[in-house]
Amino acid sequence: MSSSISDWLRQAKQQLAAVTGEVDAEAKYCCSFVLQQSNTYLYSHGDQLLSAAQWQQLQAILQRRLTGEPLAYILGQWHFWDFELEVAPSTLIPRADTEILVEKALTLLEPTPARIIDLGTGTGAIALALAKERPDCQVIGLDIQPAAVALATRNAKRLNLENCRFVQSDWFAALSGSEQGFDLIVSNPPYIDASDPHLTRGDVRFEPGSALVSDDAGFADIQQIIRQSTDFLHQGGWLLMEHGYQQADEVTARLNQGGFSQVASEKDYGGQWRISFGQWLCKG
Ligand SMILES: C[S@@+](CC[C@H](N)C(=O)[O-])C[C@H]1O[C@@H](n2cnc3c(N)ncnc32)[C@H](O)[C@@H]1O
Repeated sequence: MSSSISDWLRQAKQQLAAVTGEVDAEAKYCCSFVLQQSNTYLYSHGDQLLSAAQWQQLQAILQRRLTGEPLAYILGQWHFWDFELEVAPSTLIPRADTEILVEKALTLLEPTPARIIDLGTGTGAIALALAKERPDCQVIGLDIQPAAVALATRNAKRLNLENCRFVQSDWFAALSGSEQGFDLIVSNPPYIDASDPHLTRGDVRFEPGSALVSDDAGFADIQQIIRQSTDFLHQGGWLLMEHGYQQADEVTARLNQGGFSQVASEKDYGGQWRISFGQWLCKG
């Protein structure tokens, strides 16, 4: 059958409404992926007929998406910051919400070259955005999952970023004694309680528990990071973490208890308190 780009988009949006609130963005993402064209092209070439192969590929993607599988895993790529990343079910799909953490990190960095750690790097999203924005800085991304480390390394190659490297590590364990004195530690760690009903809804159902769930009502990994970071930050360095929208009070209390100064939280663009940070001044 012959179907135009706009015909396909129209029918896809109707069907996608059953599984996502982002019908327009997702339908266009599928089409630009298969046609290898921009959204502007889709708009200006709406009458263009799809080839049989393109239509079949689009329908195959749509059928998988209608089972609930995240589009990012179906396509094997997703957008973050100003680039596309390879993604895989071994780790979290990068979220637009996390870009607020990158923006904040850039404001905390001095204008001089800095050394940065991204803990639980996953696809490398945060590490790669910082490495791209600050070519004068050196970034190390750590993750406990070997598959995530391999994925992030491929993403760095794909983006030609040479100031970023990835290492398998249980939080800081793989950093040798000489690797201390970092200027900034960023992390989007697992922070969801195992009984949280959000884990049974939407895309999250397909993402690995190792990227999402943490003991102690979601605070175990955050607490470990707060405790261990002080051994790796130089005096005046910052720790900046993403967390759940109801966790800011507890995370800032833990940062204060951990001896951090200038502790504060900020909201994401949805108006939720999603990042907290503190400066390490105590070492003497
Ligand atoms: C919420 S995901 C964040 C991924 C990525 N930074 C992002 O923002 O899209 C948490 C990541 O932490 C990693 N992780 C979990 N436990 C870890 C540990 N003990 N040491 C290092 N990384 C860990 C997971 O494998 C996962 O990639």
